[in-house]
Order: sequence, then structure tokens, then C-alpha cells
Amino acid sequence: MAQQEDLLKKIIAHAKEYGFVFQSSEIYDGLSAVYDYAQNGTELKKNIRDYWWKAMVQMHENIVGIDSAIFMHPTVWKASGHVDAFADPMIDNKDSKKRYRADVLVEDFLAKIEAKINKEVTKAAKRFGDSFDEKQFKETNPRVLANVEKMDGIKNRLYPAMDNNNMAAIKELIEDLGIACPMSGSRNWTDVRQFNLMFSTQMGAMAEGASEIFLRPETAQGIFVNYLNVQKTGRMKIPFGIAQTGKAFRNEIVARQFIFRMREFEQMEMQFFVRPGEEMKWYEYWKEQRIKWHTSLGIPAEKFRFHDHEKLAHYANAAADIEFEFPMGFKELEGIHSRTDFDLNAHEKYSGKKLRYHDPETNKSYVPYVVETSIGLDRMFLAIMSNAYTEEELEGGNSRIVMKLPPVLAPYKVAVFPLTKKDGLPEKAREIMDSLKMDYMCFYEEKDAIGKRYRRHDAIGTPYCVTVDHQTLEDNTVTIRERDSMQQERVKIEEVSGIIAKRLKG
Ligand code: GAP
Repeated sequence: MAQQEDLLKKIIAHAKEYGFVFQSSEIYDGLSAVYDYAQNGTELKKNIRDYWWKAMVQMHENIVGIDSAIFMHPTVWKASGHVDAFADPMIDNKDSKKRYRADVLVEDFLAKIEAKINKEVTKAAKRFGDSFDEKQFKETNPRVLANVEKMDGIKNRLYPAMDNNNMAAIKELIEDLGIACPMSGSRNWTDVRQFNLMFSTQMGAMAEGASEIFLRPETAQGIFVNYLNVQKTGRMKIPFGIAQTGKAFRNEIVARQFIFRMREFEQMEMQFFVRPGEEMKWYEYWKEQRIKWHTSLGIPAEKFRFHDHEKLAHYANAAADIEFEFPMGFKELEGIHSRTDFDLNAHEKYSGKKLRYHDPETNKSYVPYVVETSIGLDRMFLAIMSNAYTEEELEGGNSRIVMKLPPVLAPYKVAVFPLTKKDGLPEKAREIMDSLKMDYMCFYEEKDAIGKRYRRHDAIGTPYCVTVDHQTLEDNTVTIRERDSMQQERVKIEEVSGIIAKRLKG
């Protein structure tokens, strides 16, 4: 675990040193849980967004994209339930003055018990070897059974307390479990209070008459309120989807772990409108599609797992997270939710406008059901960075840090280097650069020894480096070096574009 936490620290340092992510307002000591994307990070982030958009919109004839405003009519958030229920239970430790999410303290306690169970299973698997039956072991081992019972007992108190907004019951649970402040070890807690996560501001110049509006905490509502406009103007037939990427804002109680939990972040969401009764079929379809999208990037499948929600939000009849093995362990990366007709019904009620779809096949009008896929772009960025970060020992006692980014996502696809700054090599390199830059993000560099230039591009994940040398002037060939294998090949200049294109398709 310590090694993994170390990895997160290394990624944060690398992200800063190589122009991926900076702390926001760094010269003023930063702003908590807000980050700026730097020159390479912006390219990587854009490429992840484009890869998502391509898979969701370009590859699906029945999905279109929109770009709705961050500000929305305040009643939207009343209808969606965010004004009344988008809150987390918060608790302070009176000695350390540290603030926590009360439910997370209990969840962390549960995770510790689960870790004990897993340890027990690993030990037994070692002892019994090939004949080990994990299911049977879990069903019969007294220590495992006692821990499972303990976990069930805690869940049976936590989830109803959360559902019923019973803050006193959560406090009692924390006290009964003897949970101590992770910072100070103190058990001197305040009461648990609800804390709404939406940021608000005033719209309108005059103090009186200005109305309180919210920064959207999810992009989804912009899709719901536009669904009928899109359906009519796009002549969409159910089932169809609307996709959107954009900023969302949440005043998280505890925001930490770099860009994993931010107060300003970006979501990539898609709402899929289906016939009532068909939502489970589409829910399963989208679960499968989304996991395929993740593994299509070449990230090993064992780095992902599904976590089906036991405790469902009030609007959902099924929900699952795709979890990724971040340096801090398996954590939520994406949510797939069957949201029923909750949102559209609520908007009908609050707006007084009909939001029904007339189905030409059944000749019936109804409020569609919705299956949503919702992924945090920043979390995906962190997943990609942590999977790509590699320290390698090389022959001759050298080492390198290489970002093994999927080529399609790399900030630059190719770097072009003249071997030296003279003899017409820079001019030839510029010519090659000019022939490639319409199609690919290219980087031109002539400073420093070639080895140093290779290292710099390993560190930002450039899949190819093309070097122009004296032979180039004679026979129009260059060397092309592949990032991961470091293999160099001599090829004709006109072949370079095709080599890159092939790798990007792969
Ligand atoms: N419309 C549904 C929705 O917003 P969510 O589970 O609250 O669902 C979806 O959020 C995704 O947004 C999460 O899986 C996560 O990737 C990302 N996300 C949520 N809160 C975030 C935060 N504070 N910082 C970064 N990403 C966040």
C-alpha cells in the first residue's frame, strides 16, 4: 500500500514537471481541490474526451451530442432533488479540527473488516493449494462468517440511516464502532450534519431582485430538460441517446487524492432514452459497452471491476460502478445507472410542460425511461496516467521514466529532430514536420543531444521520434524510434505518416 501511495506522489510530481497538471493559483499557494491542466495535460484530456465522443456519438447513429449551459433555472435543481437531497453527512473531530464525511468513516471501517476476510482467504488458498474452494471456505470458516455478520450488521444500520437522513443514528454508529479520527486518534466527535454540495451564486446585477442560482453538480440535467427539443428537431426515435461533456461543480467535504476528487471537474455523460420496461436490457447493454471501451485502450482487464450498488439512489432501479485500480486501490471511475422516469417526471411536474414521447410503433405516448453512463474525465485522466507511468532500468546502468500512453491519447504523436543544428538538417526536419502537422500533433526540437531529446519525449509519452541525419539528405530516409521498445528503424520519409496512422488505429 505504501508503495502504491508512493506511486501517486510520483505521478503528481511527474504531472507537474512535464506539464500535465498544475495546482490552481499555485503562486498563491493553490486552491484546495482545484487543478489546472497544462500544455501536455490539455492535449491528453482533449484526446480522452474525443475518444469517448467518437465511441459514444460518432459510432452510434442514434446518439447525438449537445453542449448545455452550466447555469440552469434554479427550479431544475429543485425538481432533480439536488436542493433537498444532494448532501453528504459531515462530522468534525473536536480535537484535530478535521472534517470528515461521516458515511466514509463507516465505509472505511467496513473496508478494514473486508480486508481481514480477504487476508483469511489468501492464507487459506496458500495452505490448500489447488484443492482450495473459495466459496465453500467463505461459507464455512467461522472467522469469515463472524466478520461477514459484523459487516451486515453495520450496513443494516448505515444504509437505512442514510436513506432516512437520520444523522443521529449515523453518529451513534460511529460511537458504537469506536471509530477514531485517522489524524489524531481522538473519539471526540461533533454531531453529524447534512452539508449540501452545490455551489451557489447570484444572477442579476442588483442585490435585490437577484436570484440564487447554482453551478451544475452534474451535466445530466442539461440533457433531461432538452430531451424533447433534441428528439423533435433531430427526429430521433426511441431508443436514442444524448451525450454531453462539460464542467460540473461540487463543494466536496473532503477533497483529496489529486484529481480524483475535485471541486471543479469535468463529466462525460450519456442519457439513453428507452421504452418503459426495456430499461434492464439497455442497462446490461451499456455496462458491457462501457467496459469494452475501457479495455479497448489496452489497459489490462484485471484493472477494472464492476461494483453493483446495494444501496440505490432514490431515482434508480439498478446501478453499478466501473471501478479502476488507482494507486489508492479500487475506486469508482464511472457509473452506469438505470434512472427510471424519475427525472423527466419531476421536470414535467415542476415545469408544467408535457415531456411525453409519442411512440410511432406502439402509437402510445409515455415518459421514457433513462439509462445513463457517467464518467469523470479527470478520473479517467488519472487512470490513464497511473497505468502509463513506468520506471525502467536500462542497459548500462541507465534508467528512464516512460509514459506508456495509448498512442491515440498521447499529447504528441511524433517528435521530429534534426541530428545537428547545421548542414541543412533543421530545414529538412522542418519540411517533414510541415508535411505531418496537418494530420498529427507534432513536436520539433533541435536542442540537446539526441538521447536527451528521446528521454523528454518518453516522459510525455510521444509514441514516435523521427530523426533526420546526413543520410536523409542523400536518400530521403529517416530513423523512426518507437517509444516502448526503443527500437529504431530506417524508413523512407513518405512511409512515416502511414506508420503512425497504423499505430493509432491499432
Ligand atoms: N449524473 C450522474 C452522476 O453525476 P456521479 O456518480 O455523482 O453520477 C459520475 O458522478 C462520475 O463523475 C463519477 O463516476 C466520477 O468519475 C465523476 N465525479 C464525481 N464527483 C467527482 C469529483 N468530485 N471529482 C472528480 N470526478 C468526480
